[in-house]
Amino acid sequence: MKVFLIGFMGCGKTTLGKKLASKNGFTFIDLDKAIEQVAGKTIPQYFAEHGEAAFRELERDVLQSTDFPHNSVIATGGGAPCYFDNIDWMNTQGVTVYIAVPPAALASRLEKAEEVRPVLKDYKGEALIQFIAGKLDEREAFYRKAQITASGLGLNAEKLWTILSDYRK
Ligand code: S3P
Repeated sequence: MKVFLIGFMGCGKTTLGKKLASKNGFTFIDLDKAIEQVAGKTIPQYFAEHGEAAFRELERDVLQSTDFPHNSVIATGGGAPCYFDNIDWMNTQGVTVYIAVPPAALASRLEKAEEVRPVLKDYKGEALIQFIAGKLDEREAFYRKAQITASGLGLNAEKLWTILSDYRK
């Protein structure tokens, strides 16, 4: 089984994905890290030098040209399912899970995060919540194409595994 975790920045894709993979003997793949390896630079550097449109093309190319191993968990970047035919492509390759978290909870997690996210760099506090709410509105139609939607509040790797096992019955 190939499990694609999708959802907004800060929803927990990487943390949950790593635990889900290690507990079940799956390979964990972080799509953002794979992009950084191909680009030879960090995502913030890539955005700064080439802009978002070029990043989205690279993101699509890396996603759709990677031969993800059997029994893997792939944490995708928050925008990945929302460009080109990426979500439809992921749906043909494995099980897609949208980890849904409300804007205020995302904002509080993201304000504590050390990682730099170019899309959010100009916002904090109430403006960050508003920005996330607006972006989530735009993106939700893509996220909702996932085969499974799981609430990210109180979600852990064990619960996620149970949800996946139930889905595959
Ligand atoms: C982005 C999310 C990031 C990364 C890039 C753009 C987005 O990934 O791909 O900074 O547009 O939502 P995470 O969701 O892992 O932070």
